[in-house]
Amino acid sequence: MERRTIGAAALGVGAVGLGCMPMSWAYSSSQQHGETSMRAVHTALDAGMSLLDTADMYGPFTNELLLGRVLRERRRDAFVSTKCGLLVGEQHIVANGRPSYVRRACDASLRRLQTDVIDLYQLHRADPEVPIEETWGAMAELVTAGKVRALGFCAVGARADRRAGADIHDGTIRALERVQQVFPVSAVQAELSVWSREALERLLPWCEVRGVGFLAAMPLGNGYLTGALTTGGGFEPDDLRARHPRFTAEMMAANQPIVAGLRRVARRHGNATPGQVALAWVLAQGRHVIPVPGTKKPHWVTENAAASRLVLREGDLAEIARLPPAQGSWD
Ligand SMILES: NC(=O)c1ccc[n+]([C@@H]2O[C@H](COP(=O)([O-])OP(=O)(O)OC[C@H]3O[C@@H](n4cnc5c(N)ncnc54)[C@H](OP(=O)(O)O)[C@@H]3O)[C@@H](O)[C@H]2O)c1
Repeated sequence: MERRTIGAAALGVGAVGLGCMPMSWAYSSSQQHGETSMRAVHTALDAGMSLLDTADMYGPFTNELLLGRVLRERRRDAFVSTKCGLLVGEQHIVANGRPSYVRRACDASLRRLQTDVIDLYQLHRADPEVPIEETWGAMAELVTAGKVRALGFCAVGARADRRAGADIHDGTIRALERVQQVFPVSAVQAELSVWSREALERLLPWCEVRGVGFLAAMPLGNGYLTGALTTGGGFEPDDLRARHPRFTAEMMAANQPIVAGLRRVARRHGNATPGQVALAWVLAQGRHVIPVPGTKKPHWVTENAAASRLVLREGDLAEIARLPPAQGSWD
């Protein structure tokens, strides 16, 4: 697989990473099986998809434990990307950015992951009760202590914090400018896909000019862009798509022209799939961009890895640019 280099620390990773969240969190738990997920991780590493993206709150904790079982045998093949700063309670998820907590969270992640260093340690969400410089300073100390190689900043929740009339990522960029004063940001993680392109406006260019890597979360539109989801199929109550405005039967039908467009492009590339075109589009947004498609199925890992060999032509990109905007909004 093509390798890409991200961040001031020049971190080398496979161009496509593996999002490990669906193995333990956010999607139907009845379909989560540890042995299959572990095979998916091995398949990814075999294919050169070195970046494994997890978080302490996926499970909570079980996703890191699962990865730890692979990493104790294959640490050298992997680039470990995890996150801290969100606590899962009975009813709520809350941010915790206190320095003492960050230090404890890192030690706990290292234990669960069965490793002595985390390649990329990301702040999952800023804590509104703690100045972000304090949280980031504690994370920087982990680099000095050799527990972490580089720091990353997640902006997936930016939509919720948007001010009227502002770019969705204005607040993210303000926060990034503040933490950069404390310690360099090596990677930003935010949603980017054919049907969620907001990051292209300001956030992606901000990263590019500063040599900061960009981890594209949800590059397959939570599975929709693969065309594998049957319209109005219904989702289990613990599946994020059961409450997602784009996954009502009505919106899934309304957004079919987007999948049809990806399918048209795919047909021009032999046996390519719409999902592979969606990933190739993300890869085409810049050499600093690493899509992290999530899956727990080995055969889909193989399909997603092969997207790194799919090079879209000008005409393909122009056709995707002309696709209708997605319907179904959180606002
Ligand atoms: N920082 C944050 O706050 C944050 C938030 C969200 C996501 N993320 C990261 O971004 C990663 C990706 O996001 P995501 O997993 O939510 O969404 P995604 O990658 O857009 O889509 C995942 C869904 O697509 C399905 N899928 C994957 N490959 C497929 C293929 N080739 N054909 C058909 N279906 C396929 C998966 O099914 P199966 O699960 O059944 O395999 C899963 O339901 C996460 O795993 C996580 O690491 C981070």
